[in-house]
Amino acid sequence: MHVFIAGANGQIGQLLLRAMADSDHEARALIRHPEQGPDLQQLGATETVLGDLEHDCSEAMKGCDAVIFAAGSGPHTGPDKTIDVDHNGAVQLIDTARAMGIKHFIMVSSMGAGAPESGPEKLRSYLRAKHGADEHLKRSGLTYTIVRPGRLTNDEGTGKVAVSEKLEGVGKIPRADVASVLLAVLDSATTANRVFEVVSGPTPVGESLAQL
Ligand SMILES: NC(=O)c1ccc[n+]([C@@H]2O[C@H](COP(=O)([O-])OP(=O)(O)OC[C@H]3O[C@@H](n4cnc5c(N)ncnc54)[C@H](OP(=O)(O)O)[C@@H]3O)[C@@H](O)[C@H]2O)c1
Repeated sequence: MHVFIAGANGQIGQLLLRAMADSDHEARALIRHPEQGPDLQQLGATETVLGDLEHDCSEAMKGCDAVIFAAGSGPHTGPDKTIDVDHNGAVQLIDTARAMGIKHFIMVSSMGAGAPESGPEKLRSYLRAKHGADEHLKRSGLTYTIVRPGRLTNDEGTGKVAVSEKLEGVGKIPRADVASVLLAVLDSATTANRVFEVVSGPTPVGESLAQL
């Protein structure tokens, strides 16, 4: 499959490109600056395309079969940028994907995005932005998979996770394991039109997704 990756230069994005290099899929990495290209191609991107989620990305997405949205404005921006990127950027990409007949849209959301008002106050505007994008995707008519990781760490990946539509309590997960989950979703028969939370756990990624 030709996979369009928004947020390819991010931390999950780069781990995903590395994992995709050993897969049958072709990764088209969306970048904001040309100088990011060579390193991402070295990591495993088949090609890089310039674009910005705050603008139309249809030209950059042409010919892709699936989209993985792993972008985000990051923790150091204010709520306005969170809305611009995590909500409006995602919505724009979802609408473009639908118009272009793209088959599968995979969203990196966040644990807690199912119920933003129950989250910690300092995370609420972020969770609301994620929630809004997730709901828009669910209503879009696209085949979707919404992946809601717990707190991200840079620990080494273990390949083992716990997944459920709603997990108890809070949890964390290495970004490398989120990348493994995203790659596995591309080939999974059980994750179409599903939303699930994911944290570190005892079960290999493939087995976890098969049991969803
Ligand atoms: N931190 C957590 O504990 C946590 C928990 C659950 C879910 N998440 C979510 O996980 C996702 C990925 O996390 P991460 O740590 O990999 O994030 P990251 O390293 O901050 O990467 C975010 C990427 O988004 C890109 N981006 C930002 N604005 C953009 C725009 N306007 N157009 C195109 N690309 C844009 C950035 O591009 P540049 O490289 O050009 O800056 C960067 O590559 C985020 O959506 C985050 O909200 C985080």
